[in-house]
Amino acid sequence: MGKEYSKISPTVVFCARMRAKQKLPFSEEIVNLIDTKFKEHIEDLPDYGNTLKSKSDFIPFIEGRYYSLNNALMNIDNAFIVEIASGLSPRSLEFLNKKDITYVETELKGLIDLKEKILTEIIHQKKLDAKNLFFLHINPLEKRDMDKIRKIYAEKGKNKKLIIVHEGLLMYFNKNEKRIFRDNLKYLFENCSKGGLWLTSDFSRIKKKDEIRGKENIRDKISQVTEREFDYFESEEETKRFLKDGGFKPKILSNKKVIEKLIKSKSLQFNKEFILESSKQYRIWKIELS
Ligand SMILES: C[S@@+](CC[C@H](N)C(=O)[O-])C[C@H]1O[C@@H](n2cnc3c(N)ncnc32)[C@H](O)[C@@H]1O
Repeated sequence: MGKEYSKISPTVVFCARMRAKQKLPFSEEIVNLIDTKFKEHIEDLPDYGNTLKSKSDFIPFIEGRYYSLNNALMNIDNAFIVEIASGLSPRSLEFLNKKDITYVETELKGLIDLKEKILTEIIHQKKLDAKNLFFLHINPLEKRDMDKIRKIYAEKGKNKKLIIVHEGLLMYFNKNEKRIFRDNLKYLFENCSKGGLWLTSDFSRIKKKDEIRGKENIRDKISQVTEREFDYFESEEETKRFLKDGGFKPKILSNKKVIEKLIKSKSLQFNKEFILESSKQYRIWKIELS
């Protein structure tokens, strides 16, 4: 099963390069390492077109969703964050600085081993305190892998709020896989932490006829590599029904303030309305057991 999903893994390099292009914290260090020391250990996308060269007059999707999710996590103290399919994302390093956060990175087997090596280098170079950072190989479509999360939470998560996060994952899953994913998370929360939270931007993008496409869109190339069509729900209502039917209560969080701040810091005010409209596609859904 893991082998089939590992076709999706080259997309992590794309996400990592996009974050490095926007100079997100630790992202350039990560890309430097995959271009040098760990070059042979990871497969890149074969062709980026002009994606990495083009100048942005908007906030790229990958950067926008990264900051939107960070913002949703920002005010939660004493949390036990489990990131599903964390790829080469630097979020755990950013959150380790926060008081009382334990962070569990999860990915498919080969990739999580590589991630651990990469982050260990950076932690060492920058003398970071990483005693609350853990790595697990998890396929969230396997119910038994939820028990691995239960186990580590029982060992290290006492009195902490369990928060499951992910970004850039569900669009690669078809509807049946999304259902399995949802039901596995329900199983996890019910058996581990009924007051836990599920935070993701992955439900915000819906299938559209007149899709707003940024200049840096390389979705067709990604589909070829992953051998998967991007799969979205038809509407917000359909998405909400899907979550309610699965025993969850969803709420969409505004990301307007965080995106306005980004617009200002990048002097993109001239394109503000377009950016704010596009940013609705990566608002965070805060989902709890109903
Ligand atoms: C587009 S990347 C996003 C990675 C990361 N969240 C980011 O934003 O950079 C999609 C990730 O999903 C992972 N993935 C795909 N199917 C998976 C599965 N069944 N179980 C665990 N991870 C999976 C891939 O390995 C890949 O890292």
